[in-house]
Amino acid sequence: MPILECLKVSKAYGGLLAVSDLSFAVEPGEVYAIVGPNGAGKTSLFDCISGVNPATSGTIKFKDREIQGLRAHQISRLGLARTFQTTVAFNSQTVLTNVLVGGAFGRDGDNPTLWFNNQAQEDALDALALCGLGNQQRKLAGALPVLARKRLMLATALAMRPQMLLLDEPFGGLNPVERAQMIDLIRVVAKTGVTILMIEHVMKAVQALADRILVIHHGQQIAVGPPSKVLRDRRVIEVYLGNLMPMGPEEAAPADA
Ligand SMILES: Nc1ncnc2c1ncn2[C@@H]1O[C@H](COP(=O)(O)OP(=O)(O)O)[C@@H](O)[C@H]1O
Ligand SMILES: [Mg+2]
Repeated sequence: MPILECLKVSKAYGGLLAVSDLSFAVEPGEVYAIVGPNGAGKTSLFDCISGVNPATSGTIKFKDREIQGLRAHQISRLGLARTFQTTVAFNSQTVLTNVLVGGAFGRDGDNPTLWFNNQAQEDALDALALCGLGNQQRKLAGALPVLARKRLMLATALAMRPQMLLLDEPFGGLNPVERAQMIDLIRVVAKTGVTILMIEHVMKAVQALADRILVIHHGQQIAVGPPSKVLRDRRVIEVYLGNLMPMGPEEAAPADA
């Protein structure tokens, strides 16, 4: 049984149909990548799944339960966490506080308080260690360079102990050395058993990590399957990879603000 299922999901902003009748399913333990040109509707789809901005129509099931009507905090408490395309953090707070707050609000019951119990502290420290920030916990989040900020956003999501993680362009803004480190980190997270749904432009990372790829264009599916098949698909090359070829597919990372 899929852990996440989208059935005919659409998202309209006024007259603009950003996601159009999209259906797909993610199996437990998979790393599933979503690729497509800028404006294809990828982030809008994540906003629908995570409850940040609800779908206009369609059904979204997480662990066989319909979630399309739920709010973001309710969805995160079911075990579905996400990160954002731009690195968001409480900049004036420490790394540890950021992760504690993520864990508390994303996970604990209906009345979270700012009292962090021992379990919360342990989970936060575990998440920081897993993300390579074990020795940075007292630094201010605002003082971190870009890769560390991305690690922090991942640790904040993992402190919720999610079963599934949505990652919106985790490789954006990273140089090749940093990208290699992020590939390693996402591999480690996937090995812990967390299912990963990832939007990404960096083809080298998609090829290294993804079990399956879904390609969308104008909010609609144009291909889905294993990387070996999808990246050779004529329509995919035409509408997406073709644009990126001057740089070579492995270096392709169009700016996506
Ligand atoms: N909050 C919003 N209000 C209105 N239009 C939006 C909003 N968010 C995204 N869009 C539009 O929806 C389309 C899809 O955007 P987005 O989901 O961000 O694409 P992607 O993440 O694939 O680049 C774009 O045309 C974008 O301008
Ligand atoms: Mg986007």
